[in-house]
Amino acid sequence: MSLLLVTGTAVVVSTSAQAATTLGASAAERGGRFFGTAVAAGKLNDSAYTTILNREFNQVTPENEMKIDATEPNQNQFSYGNADRIVQHARSRGMQVRGHTLAWHSQQPGWMQAMSGTALRNAMLNHVTQVATHFRGQVTWWDVVNEAFADGSSGARRDSNLQRTGNDWIEAAFRAARTADPNAKLCYNDYNIDNWTDAKTQAVYRMVQDFKNRGVPIDCVGLQSHFTGGSNYPSNYRTTLSSFAALGVDVQITELDIRNAPSDAYRNVTNDCLAVARCTGITVWGIRDSDSWRSGENPLLFNGGGGKKAAYDAVLAALNSGAPNPTTPPPTTTPTTPPPGGGSCTASVTPGTVWGDRYNSSVTVSGASNWSVVVAITAPQRVSTTWSGSFSWDSSGSVMTVRSNGSGNTFGFTTMMNGNTGARPRITSCTSVQSISSPR
Ligand code: G3I
Repeated sequence: MSLLLVTGTAVVVSTSAQAATTLGASAAERGGRFFGTAVAAGKLNDSAYTTILNREFNQVTPENEMKIDATEPNQNQFSYGNADRIVQHARSRGMQVRGHTLAWHSQQPGWMQAMSGTALRNAMLNHVTQVATHFRGQVTWWDVVNEAFADGSSGARRDSNLQRTGNDWIEAAFRAARTADPNAKLCYNDYNIDNWTDAKTQAVYRMVQDFKNRGVPIDCVGLQSHFTGGSNYPSNYRTTLSSFAALGVDVQITELDIRNAPSDAYRNVTNDCLAVARCTGITVWGIRDSDSWRSGENPLLFNGGGGKKAAYDAVLAALNSGAPNPTTPPPTTTPTTPPPGGGSCTASVTPGTVWGDRYNSSVTVSGASNWSVVVAITAPQRVSTTWSGSFSWDSSGSVMTVRSNGSGNTFGFTTMMNGNTGARPRITSCTSVQSISSPR
């Protein structure tokens, strides 16, 4: 049995500033946006690759490692090694992760390709549930469904084994994902939905509108934006972004690459995203041209040697010219009364990155090596992710007690705003704790 001794309380709040010399840092200062990249697990041992990744980007999408053939190679046997490696690499460096993708007609494992009807529907839903559950709390956005509409002028769904299980397969996937990970942002993701007048764009728009009207859980639309000679950056791209956003979803540019990386097109895409408040970030589909799925077209921001291309300079300049982050809150200080017993323990709150829907905070404790810090969250805000401490909550879910867990004196957490953009966590006590063993 052990006793806890309370020895002191104090609270100090400090602030931090972000530099804007990299894509991720600059995007974060533009309303808490992200600038990310697709990452391949096989390249995480390439130091030239990881040097650029770690320096420039604050968001990561696994390029192939979360796809169905990678995560469920045999039915009901799940394989997360490579995906976990990317998630660990990203999250340990404060990068957010976009999960890609839970339900897709392509890159299905052989066993799923061979299925149809109710068996396939159930297998798909089980896959969504299992994978979203595995990554719960680690993935900010999920591409729940990818590429479900046909190209061309039909405006129809793409024919696939999933589509043949019934037109409601997409909403069924979204509902399963919401149940499995209630805090993840659930997205529909597609290519060739960049030009506002295209039939495919209009068809996806109508589906999202219908989902919002009927309460199907959808939070975001991803425009892949693979621009080639045959699919150029359209002059109405900003209209497309703002039109989807007006439905009440976030929009993201999720797989950007542009044949020969013209600076003008990259600059225009960046400016269009910055012009739409709910365009919360841009992901490029690879780091160096040599990493690209179409490396022959040199479509990315870094050349094969890792050098910054002209398009990089254009994107960074556009980001830096954007309106500054309007959502960074002033820090709040809540003095507290030391509990009986006196002594010293100090908790310093450093506000972190603010996104459209959530923000990070870190807390550094000094004056004690064993400590217990109580943090009050203002409902409906809720803590969604935590790190470097031992966390517990009261029954309301709004009072969080954090104990040291041997990982150092700084802990952190992500808070979902849930509509309240102004409130910030308040530290109500910082307690130095001594553990004394009583005689047995
Ligand atoms: O890893 C194997 C390797 O062992 C093998 O020797 C080699 C032989 O072909 O294949 C390698 O796997 C390839 C994998 O990329 C990794 O490089 C697959 O064949 C290849 O099909 C796969 O291509 C991926 C493609 O999706 C598959 O659909 C690309 O990397 C990936 O960039 C691309 O990404 C898609 C998005 O998911 C959805 N939107 C379009 C985008 C571009 O196609």
